[in-house]
Amino acid sequence: MRSERSPTQPALDTLAIHAGQEPDPVHGGVMPNLVLSTTFRQPEPGKPLQFDYSRSGNPTRQALEACLAALEKASFGFAFASGCAAATTLLSTLGPGAHVVCGDDVYGGTYRLFARVMAPFGIKTSFVDQSDAGKFAAAFTPETKLAWLESPSNPLLKLADIRELAGIAHARGVPLVVDNTFASPMLQQPLELGADIVLHSATKYLNGHSDVVGGALLLRDPQLAERIKFLQNAMGAVPSPFDCYLLLRGLKTLPVRMRAHCQSAAELAQRLQAHPQVERVYYPGLSAHPQHALAQRQMRGFGGMVSVVLRGGEPAARRFLQALEWFALAESLGGVESLAEHPALMTHASIPRELREAIGISDGLVRLSVGLEGVDDLWADLLGALAAAEKGTG
Ligand SMILES: Cc1ncc(COP(=O)(O)O)c(C=O)c1O
Repeated sequence: MRSERSPTQPALDTLAIHAGQEPDPVHGGVMPNLVLSTTFRQPEPGKPLQFDYSRSGNPTRQALEACLAALEKASFGFAFASGCAAATTLLSTLGPGAHVVCGDDVYGGTYRLFARVMAPFGIKTSFVDQSDAGKFAAAFTPETKLAWLESPSNPLLKLADIRELAGIAHARGVPLVVDNTFASPMLQQPLELGADIVLHSATKYLNGHSDVVGGALLLRDPQLAERIKFLQNAMGAVPSPFDCYLLLRGLKTLPVRMRAHCQSAAELAQRLQAHPQVERVYYPGLSAHPQHALAQRQMRGFGGMVSVVLRGGEPAARRFLQALEWFALAESLGGVESLAEHPALMTHASIPRELREAIGISDGLVRLSVGLEGVDDLWADLLGALAAAEKGTG
């Protein structure tokens, strides 16, 4: 066993390639087997070998779940058909009358899930500024059963002090969920900072190649794991073995990809900050970011996402987005290719305008997912689009 030769905890770079993936015992294949079978022959009735039916469990999915759990330093990993499926399954552990404290700058689909899917089932949510521990603490009620945050958040790249907020939640007997999609375990491991559950949209950095929609929950509590395992099977929002295979393949390069994303995003954020057409840059790696000190303390890198407010509001943002060439105008993020989008019109359109404006998602805000293309090509693209945005502003 590899672990016998290496008594110390392997690096994340090593786990991303090997965790959960022993070489195939029959042929020695170094890549995990893609097992498409939906059912598994049983030696006697009701006594299956390890698997009986692929919704309940599948070898390729099991390898993915083990790899993700290792990367997040969790004891249990569960893979889902999407990040939203992971969130829905987790929220199904709650019952009517439960209350959730949630960050106010979360993915629009997460907001929609709370506001329009869970609310009719009697689950109430308070949305609060996750960067303000006092406001976060004040939002708890005796009915609060879960606290939920994203750090960095989408799209304003606000941070939450995970350790501090976990302490606040735990003092009230409430578990804390951290959506770690933007950071990935390479940059931040929320369970190590005191969170109880990590959620991922694996569609993003974990897969990294914009060809799988997937999600995951990673946790340490055996009782909660038992419940999630039951719900994963009972609700059935599981990923296909092929998607699990692609995700395992994507994970192998997560460490190198994240290093490159961080480097290019930092470079572009610096340059954007100095451009006259740019009113504001949101990037936790900039010393101007109000929570830069927390980012340095809590994260190992500052990520590949950069949000900018352009002078000239929505018309300028539209001209900018339509002039981009290497950056594709598209939703989603975290792939090898660069993407740009307009949160108010696209990813966060499901949040009511007043709420969007109150939290700072203005009409001039553009979100960039910095990919792995040559950084100078990306900068040339941004410069051209900024020039297009400027035309008509003056
Ligand atoms: C931070 C974050 N969490 C969750 C989700 C939902 O994930 P999915 O689209 O895989 O359902 C997204 C999707 O954009 C996201 O950005």
